[in-house]
Amino acid sequence: MNPEQRRLLRATRQHVEGLRSLGVSAVASDDADANDSPQAVKVSMTNRTDRLTRLVNEITKCHRCPLYRSRTHAVVGDGSLNASLVFVGEAPGREEDLQGKPFVGAAGQLLTKMIQAMGLRREEVYICNVLKDRPPANRTPLPEEIEACLPFLYEQLEVIQPRVICTLGAVATKALLGPSSSISQLRGQVHTYRGISLVPTFHPAFLLRNPPAKKLAWSDLKKVKQLLEEGPQDKG
Ligand code: URA
Repeated sequence: MNPEQRRLLRATRQHVEGLRSLGVSAVASDDADANDSPQAVKVSMTNRTDRLTRLVNEITKCHRCPLYRSRTHAVVGDGSLNASLVFVGEAPGREEDLQGKPFVGAAGQLLTKMIQAMGLRREEVYICNVLKDRPPANRTPLPEEIEACLPFLYEQLEVIQPRVICTLGAVATKALLGPSSSISQLRGQVHTYRGISLVPTFHPAFLLRNPPAKKLAWSDLKKVKQLLEEGPQDKG
């Protein structure tokens, strides 16, 4: 191997490591995008990975609110950049902060089961939070923390362009739909966020404390599945 080949190998390894740290577990080829609609071509996979790589750099260096002082890891997101479905939670908890991955604690195990019950694998959806850093003692995010962190979520959704967003709990639902309505008014209906169908459901941590609500959450997830099945099957 000559020095140029070694340099390329090193750069490729670094890029793959960067993608792993983004939580990227599946990347479609650009050839697939080339055959898609002009809209899908607009954000090609290369474009997506580049934009998300830039985003992860920004998030891991972010000092927009004081939460960076107590973080072990910023938690950007996890899953496929080609996902048709994005789940949005509230903020990382203790386990998530330690591992740098969203929904890996008890609530995360339930979320994984919910995804599997829909006939999907965790790796084929994308999971992220409104806040990228853990609030102390898992307290509810403050309005100023949400305001500082929201542009990162907007950018993630713009890059991934899912067909459906499922918000988990009041914080995520209000962050994307506006603070005026209560979760009980918003749940049970399909909303729209920038042209994308949005289905609010209960946060898995709430479902762990209130198992009877699982029945309602399941009806929300069935709605999500129906929306996914109604749309075009291959997303660029
Ligand atoms: N709760 C959340 O809202 N997000 C996580 O990542 C974990 C628990």
